[in-house]
This record gives sequence, C-alpha cells and structure tokens, in this order.
Amino acid sequence: MATYKWYIWIIQLFIILNIQALVNCVDRGNFKTCDQSGFCKRHRSITPGHSPYYLEMSSFKIYETSLEGIIVNSQNGIQLKFDLIVLKDNSMRFKIKELNTIRHRFEAREALVDRIEESKLEVISQDSEKIILTFGSNKVILNGSPFRIDIFSGDQLVISANARGLMKFEHYRPKSNPKPTEEGEEQNEIQQQQPPVPPEEEQFKDTLWEETFKGHTDSKPYGPSSVGMDFSFVGFKHVYGIPEHADVFPLRTTKGTSDPYRLYNLDVFEYDLNNPMAIYGSIPFMVAHSETQTVGLLWLNAAETWVDVEASSNQGVVSSIVDFVKGNTQIPQQDSHWISESGIIDVFFLLGPGPKDVMFQYAKLTGVTPLPPLFSLGYHQCRWNYRDQDDVRNVDAGFDENDIPYDVLWLDLDHTHDRKYFTWDPYKFPDPIAMQTNLTAKGRKMVTLVDPHIKRDNNYYIHKEATDRGFYVKNKENQDYEGWCWPGASGYLDFLSPEVRDWWSSKYALDQYQGSTLSLYTWNDMNEPSVFSEPEVTMPKDCKHVGGWEHRDIHNMYGFLMVMATYKGHLMRSGGAQRPFILSRSVFAGSQRYGAVWTGDNIADWNHLQISVPMILSLSIAGMSFSGADVGGFFRNPTPELMLRWYQAGAYQPFFRAHSHHETKRREPWLFEGEYRTAIRDAIRARYPLLPLWYTLFYENERTGVPPMRPVWMEFPTETITFDMNDEYIIGSCLLVRPVLEESVVNVNVYFPGTNEVWYDIITHEKYDGGQSVSVSAPLSKIPVYQRGGTIIPKKGRIRRSSSLTYNDPYTLVIALDKSGTHANGTLYIDDFNSFKYREGNFLLLKFSFEKNIISSKILEGKFKTSAWLEKIIIVGLEKAPKSIILFNKNSKTELISKYDENQHLLTIRKPGVNIGEEWKITL
Ligand code: NOJ
Repeated sequence: MATYKWYIWIIQLFIILNIQALVNCVDRGNFKTCDQSGFCKRHRSITPGHSPYYLEMSSFKIYETSLEGIIVNSQNGIQLKFDLIVLKDNSMRFKIKELNTIRHRFEAREALVDRIEESKLEVISQDSEKIILTFGSNKVILNGSPFRIDIFSGDQLVISANARGLMKFEHYRPKSNPKPTEEGEEQNEIQQQQPPVPPEEEQFKDTLWEETFKGHTDSKPYGPSSVGMDFSFVGFKHVYGIPEHADVFPLRTTKGTSDPYRLYNLDVFEYDLNNPMAIYGSIPFMVAHSETQTVGLLWLNAAETWVDVEASSNQGVVSSIVDFVKGNTQIPQQDSHWISESGIIDVFFLLGPGPKDVMFQYAKLTGVTPLPPLFSLGYHQCRWNYRDQDDVRNVDAGFDENDIPYDVLWLDLDHTHDRKYFTWDPYKFPDPIAMQTNLTAKGRKMVTLVDPHIKRDNNYYIHKEATDRGFYVKNKENQDYEGWCWPGASGYLDFLSPEVRDWWSSKYALDQYQGSTLSLYTWNDMNEPSVFSEPEVTMPKDCKHVGGWEHRDIHNMYGFLMVMATYKGHLMRSGGAQRPFILSRSVFAGSQRYGAVWTGDNIADWNHLQISVPMILSLSIAGMSFSGADVGGFFRNPTPELMLRWYQAGAYQPFFRAHSHHETKRREPWLFEGEYRTAIRDAIRARYPLLPLWYTLFYENERTGVPPMRPVWMEFPTETITFDMNDEYIIGSCLLVRPVLEESVVNVNVYFPGTNEVWYDIITHEKYDGGQSVSVSAPLSKIPVYQRGGTIIPKKGRIRRSSSLTYNDPYTLVIALDKSGTHANGTLYIDDFNSFKYREGNFLLLKFSFEKNIISSKILEGKFKTSAWLEKIIIVGLEKAPKSIILFNKNSKTELISKYDENQHLLTIRKPGVNIGEEWKITL
C-alpha cells in the first residue's frame, strides 16, 4: 500500500522500543519554520504600505445591522465580497471571501455558538473615499483606497485593519503546470489553460502547487489559497492570548526577531520553552490591554495560522488619524499580522471597554465552560499507567491511609485491550465495574483515555463499523487514510462529519462501552491529531474530510470536533441528567464548551513549572477557563522540592491533576520523605476547603465568561506594573496567588495591587497594604496566598476522602475587611453539584455582606434546599472585640459565642448554626 513507506517501519520500531523517552528535548528540525512554509513566507515578505486592495465604493448595500460591498485587488482585478456585521455587546465582525470562486472556502462555524445577536448600525456619511458608521458609542471608518478599517471606541482609535497594507487574499485559480510534462503524458484541460504566474508570486512559484518538507510532499491540489491581514492595536503596549505556546504571558515582538507565533495543533515531544512554536492547541484570539481600554480580536480560521507581533509607536498611515484625533505621535501601538493557509478572512472585534467586558463578549461568540461537576474541581491522580486493578486499589487505599483527599483516578492508554479504545485489558482489568464501584463507594470517579486513532484490526468493532460506514478521513487517493499511532496502523475518524460525531457519541452509551458506568469520564488525548508516521507528527494536509474539505482547511479544529462528540455522548448516556467531564489535549476557539484542557507533556523541570502559570493564564483569557498543567512534570523525575512546589501551585489552579510518564519513578504523594511528604499532603488538602469558592467562580464563569484564574490586571486594569507579570495571578476577585516557582527559594517578592487595598495572608492573617512589593518568607511549607480586604470567602473546613462526601458539610465564612475596616462582601453558589437542574432554577446564589458591623446573607437568585449550615464566621481585620453578637434568623434572636485575638485582629464567631440557604443577619 502506498502509505507503507520505509520510515513507517522505523517509527514503529521507535514506538516498540520506546526510544522516544530516551531523546532529550524537542527536535526543532521536525517542525516547520515560517521560511519552510510557503504561505507564511509569501505573506511575511509583503512590504508594508502598498496595499493593492480598494473598496468599490459604489457597490455598498446597507442594511439594518450589516453592510456589504466589494473589495478589488488592483493587481489582478480579483473581486472579494466584504460583509460587515454589527453585533450586540460592543462587538463587530467582518468577513472577506471571493465573490466568484472555483472552490468554496471553509468557515469554522462550529466554533461559534448557534446564535450571535446582531445590533443596529447607523451610517453617518458616505462619499467616494470613505463610509463612516456608528454603533453604540463606537465608530467605524471604512476607507476606500487603499482598503482600511479604523475602529474607534468613543473617540479613541483602538484597532486599525490593513493599516500597514499587509492584506493578501490568494484566490483559487486553475492549476498551471510549472513542470514540463513527461513525454507521452497528457495534459489535462485545466493544465492547458496555464495562466502566467503573476509577477509578485514569481519568486514563490515553487511553493504554490506543491511543497515538500522532510521528504514528504504536500500535493496542494487546489494551489495557493492563503489569506492574511494586519491589525494595529493603537494605544496599547501589551497584547496577550493566541494560545497555545510555551511562552510568557505578554506576547513578544516576533517581527524581525523570531518566527511568528504559530497556531497549528501539533504533538511536540518535550516542547521547548519561551518560543513561538506551535503545540497542541490553537485559539486565534488576542487581547490588547492598556490602563484605559481592553479590546479583543478573534481571527476565525481553522487552518494553519501564523501571527506576527510587533511593538511600535504609531507611524505611517495610522499616525495621520491618531494625530488628528489625539495630536500626539508618541502613542504606543502593537501591530499584529495574521496569516492562514486557507479559509476566509473572518474577524471579530470586541471593544470592551474593560477586560471583563471582553471576556463576556468573547463568551457571547464562542460560548462558556458549562459549570463543571464539583468532583472535577478536586484533585486528580493520574499516571501512565496504573498497571492493573490491584494497582488501582492500592493507590486508592494509599490516599486513605495517608489522609489525603482526591476525587478522580485516571487510567491511561494501557488499560485498553491492545490499545483499542472503549475496551479493557481482560487480564489487568477483568472487572472494571467492580473497580469503579470501589471508587464510587468513597464518592470518587474514574477517567479513561479515548484517543481518535482507531486500530486497524478487523476484529475490533469500532474499526469494523468505521470502515463499513466510511467514517474515516481519506487520503489524497480517496482511500481510508492510514497513519501510525499507539496501536500501530490506525484509521482516523472524520469528526467533521455530523454523522460520524453522532455515531461516536453513541459509543459512550453504557451498553456500548462495556464496563463503563456513569462514574466513568473521558480523556481525549492525541487529538491534534497526532500521527507518528508523518512529518510534523500530524495528518497530511491533503487528506480529505466529508464535503470535500481538505485536512488543511480544518486541521486546528479536529480535536475540538472530537471533544464536541464526546461531550454529547456523555450527555446522552445519562439522558441529560449528569454533567459531562472531558479533558482534551487539543483545543480551538469554542473548546471551552466541552470541558477542560491541560498543557500536555511538560517536563519535571523548574522552567516548566514557571511557564505553567503564563500558559494557563493565556488559555484562561482565551475562553479555556478550566485548564491546568501536569503537576510534577510529565517527563523525567522531579526532585522532592520541585514536586512539592508544583503541588502548591497546582492546588491554586483551575484543573489540578498530577500525571507522569511510564518511565518515571512512581510518585504518588506519600512516596516522598519527611517534610516534603507532609507539605505535599497539606497542599492537596488546601484545595478542598476552597472548593465552594472555585465552584462559585465557575458558575460566574458560565454566566459572564470571566475566568476563575485571572491575570492581576483583569482585577486592577490600571496597574501597569502588573501587565508584564508571569508569576502572580488572582483567583476570582479575592485571592492573590504567588506560588513559589523557583528552586531553593525561601523568600518571594509579592506585588500587592491596589493602593486602596489591603491583603491578608490566608494562614497567618498578616496584613499587607496594597500598592507595594514585599519580600515574603516562603519556606517549604508555605504557599503565598492572600485574601483581598473587602471580600468574603465561603469555605468548607472538613477534609473528607472526596468532594462528593462534603455536599452537606457546614460552611465557614472568612470575612476580610477592607482598608477602612468596615466593608466586605462575597457570594456563594450552591446546587446539587452534578446535574443540570440548576438551569431550571434549582440553585441558590447567596450574597454575604459586612456593612457597618452587620453581617448578612441574602438570596440573590434561585431556590434550592440544602442541609448544609453555617458553622463559623471568621472576621479578619476587625479593630476591636464587639460587645455582643446577636443572630437574627427567621423570628428568633440568639446571642452567639465568639473569641477575639487582639494581636491578629481576628474575630471567630462560633456556631451561628443557621441553614446556609436561609437569609439571616448578625449584628456586632
Ligand atoms: C500523550 C499525553 O500527552 C500523555 O499525557 C499520555 O500519558 C500519553 N499520551 C499516553 O497516553
């Protein structure tokens, strides 16, 4: 068979011998640079300031919420259709595609929510040079020649599209025949047409119709089809986002210094840090932030994409408008240049004006993470692999013996029978149901791995059905594509097809997935997709999907589509009763609607611990609010100190899972010695009292799109000092975290934001004034975490085996008073922690406040009966002991007992005893 090339056998040998694990770091030569990628090179070589595109001003049609017109390329006369649509919530979109085309272009519609609401626009003026329109308090100027769009928030120019004239739209064309035909070879009709290569493409003609990388030729049957455009963020020094890269949080200047950031979902072995190389996920969403404004830009394209970033002050074309508006030439600017291999130009502008507004606007377009089931916010224990049922039993018991809570035990690849997903190794896992029941008896769950590559074994029901029904992706010869992955020769399901997705969803039904229960959840790995036998370890771009789309068109959303089907499968198997939990390695815009992501195969190395913070922040602001990194590092063996510091960081990040490669030493939390063991145990335990806060934040995330783990500037937008931070962040609005990320360090500098704020150490209650950096002591046992004055955090003090056993446990409210010592407030969200009944109103959203010595609880929304009660109230920052403390509840009045610590200014009120779901008031 054509696909059985020599290197396949070598790769197979590599897999068998596990040579992969002996190699030390990423082989960069295995992955393309921009120079090795024809379309990237073509776009990057454009000289700014000479855009050939102009708007045909007479072509415009104006509607209530949109307008349409024609853009012409003056070099070749090609006409493009231009649509501008104004959206609700301060956002707008424009699309550019060919007016007359010989081939349709892919649009990544699935990434968006079903309905995007539009809003009215008003055209203020229209002449032969420009059209000016407004929506809300925003203004848009469409400049005719050259084509440029200037977007103003109020009277401030914030984004300019094609200001640098880098727009390029490669139209589909008939194939010319650059190579002379062999003797006797017939030329086909299309080849005979042979239009001349336009002069601007002459130097690139070798990459237009075929491209070779590492001996593999991409046949590019449809020729060049890339699109690109530049966007200048005017008035901004900082841009963020476009995950996934193993890099710092603020995006760097790439132009003239490195390759552009690459967005191309790839399985990169031992990925390198601090560079723009592509890794597993691609979310083409960028956020620009300044003291006065935040804006976002979504480039909706699922093909391979490169993004150049360049910090500058405004020059050239943009400066004339900025000067006009501001009379100032020193306005900072971030220029970005987006380049995709195929698809259309489809751009969304989110005009904030604040960072949380942009999060909300992005959520309105691509959706939110549905409230996760509570257990998934607990601690997860994973390893490649827990060997067999005995191993599982022992690990599970180890947690109990060592008094460490955990919620989920994960089974990696080797729980399957011969790497066939949805099966169990009959010798190692003979009774999976009993195994799961043993876990669920303690409220725990299990997750198994299900990858998208399917072993080509005729006795495997999934393969047989997929083959019979034509469900695999096809190669360029229209045969089922075959690539190599864990099981050896594999087929790859075509998740672009709704029919395949439905079929895949049905495979999670309890009667289909033998040995599964409703407490078994799913991990979709290797879904970039990873193909060991191909260059760049992924599917060739000339493979074909349903509808005739090339893999080139949809690559970055392959994993997204898989997880979409898995999510639906989980919903279906419980008849919609239970919330799914799915972890995916590959993500695209909108993946947040289906679950969590982790940062893939990191390394047990301090640098990898450090980079996990900016990586998770980048994912968080791009919608993936439920994200984490492998605690401890996947490859290699962490030192006890690294392991401990990683646990301490992970305990304060959204997805908290330890995982390790099968060749590393076993590292369950109790396998460490002495103080490390104690401190690791404490770090995991520290997660649990805060689950009510995480849960409340995820509920808010579902409503607002604001991620639970936030960059400090999201809460303190004007504090420029926080704009470059990579080691500090805020959970919600209330907990400042500066995990220790450096080796042998026992002091860290913490910046306490907000000149009018105070912060309290959550353990010692020591007070720190905002607006300063302080070197704090951080011995091994210490996690530097601070509660913001003016906030109330609900906690649950009892640590049990798993979160499910704490549903009805009592709450403690920790009230940290603001600088004036008089105010604080907070919220708590409660429901049944597992079903969708909250969407019918079965929940409680409570607001707690402390105002002038009165503490009160109010029901903001919902109805839900709980037996949980209020056990304790701790007030931090209270200047003096109150004379009496009276609880008013229903019609009763009770005096409460308390203890005041003068040195710490800490009041502990014991046993208010009220049901947490009731309204009450306590006067001091
Ligand atoms: C790659 C994943 O990134 C890793 O977490 C997993 O253990 C291996 N695949 C084996 O399934």
